[in-house]
Amino acid sequence: MGLVLGIETSCDETSAAVLDEDGRVRSNVVSSQMQAHARYGGVVPEVAARAHLENLPAVLEEALERAGVGLEEIGMIAATAGPGLIGALLVGLSAAKAIAFARNLPLVGVNHLEGHLFSAFLRPGGDAPLPAEYPFHGLVVSGGHAELVRVEEDRIVALARTRDDAPGEAFDKIARRAGLGYPGGPVVDRIAAKGRGDRFPFAIGRAGDGSRDFSFSGLKTAMLRELEKRGVDGKPLDPEALDPELVDLLASFQRAIVAALLDRVRAVHVEEGVRALALSGGVAANSELRATLADWGRGAGVPVYLPDRSFTTDNAAMIAWAGVIGARRGAPTDPAAAAARSRWPLGA
Ligand code: KG4
Ligand code: ZN
Repeated sequence: MGLVLGIETSCDETSAAVLDEDGRVRSNVVSSQMQAHARYGGVVPEVAARAHLENLPAVLEEALERAGVGLEEIGMIAATAGPGLIGALLVGLSAAKAIAFARNLPLVGVNHLEGHLFSAFLRPGGDAPLPAEYPFHGLVVSGGHAELVRVEEDRIVALARTRDDAPGEAFDKIARRAGLGYPGGPVVDRIAAKGRGDRFPFAIGRAGDGSRDFSFSGLKTAMLRELEKRGVDGKPLDPEALDPELVDLLASFQRAIVAALLDRVRAVHVEEGVRALALSGGVAANSELRATLADWGRGAGVPVYLPDRSFTTDNAAMIAWAGVIGARRGAPTDPAAAAARSRWPLGA
């Protein structure tokens, strides 16, 4: 297989990475479009696609340069094929196809969520990834997803997903209404660390039909109502000078999200036994979520894999690694077969 070139353009990060076939990260360049989207309070698909088109050539070049290799040393390409914004996906996948055809290389179209899933095992600093022992359970929490799955050697079984908002989306919407800017997760994380998360107990969101699915829209609505009651209406606020009650409210909101995720991990552990848990996705950067799950793991005797923070938000290193794992499992490597898809559930 040789060296693997990863390309990620599914949302608002343009990224390229070079890994060796054992998963050592030789380079991982991420160019964020956060600035371009910040003034809209969220990702604008058309703006994203255009920015990928502008940024990708330089990002690719830099990834190769930092790895100290030329395209002629690349043995395989892995590019995100879905799920994501279709225009954005097409930019990265088309570039990947062009290189694959030109250099006669295999190309794996990677499921972005699988990229997150295995990112928990990647190590920074050029070290080899930690070995994954199957079966393990994975919790992927990001701006678009909340998925709890069981990962077996040759298949992924979906156990629970969100019925409405994703946790990252809830963080982003609440932060916007609180006048704290975009993205909302990191700023709420910092504020919550100074507050009392037990002051305003919110109900744990569950899908109403007795399934294991997550639901975060009820919590979001309850929180929006609390903000409204206090006259918080989206006018920019200084995160360092918030009213102490608002700090506690944000801490309680974060606590409720963490509690909902932990609740489902516990339930699945009772039902089928969790041998190891891998946390991933943008929200996996959240300090309280990391500490809470690590704590649970210690108590339950379950190893919990937390991704290095450099691999939590969208990046191409995780795509390259999932591509390697996919290829080993027999995923198609014909460049002509790779097709972009906006919807692509884990395990499908
Ligand atoms: O995985 P990601 O980069 O993009 C998606 O595939 O969605 O996740 C981005 C999301 C955003 O919603 C952002 O607010 C959230 O991850 N996020 C966090 C933290 N850092 C980023 N949420 C909670 N706490 C954080 N520290
Ligand atoms: Zn993502």
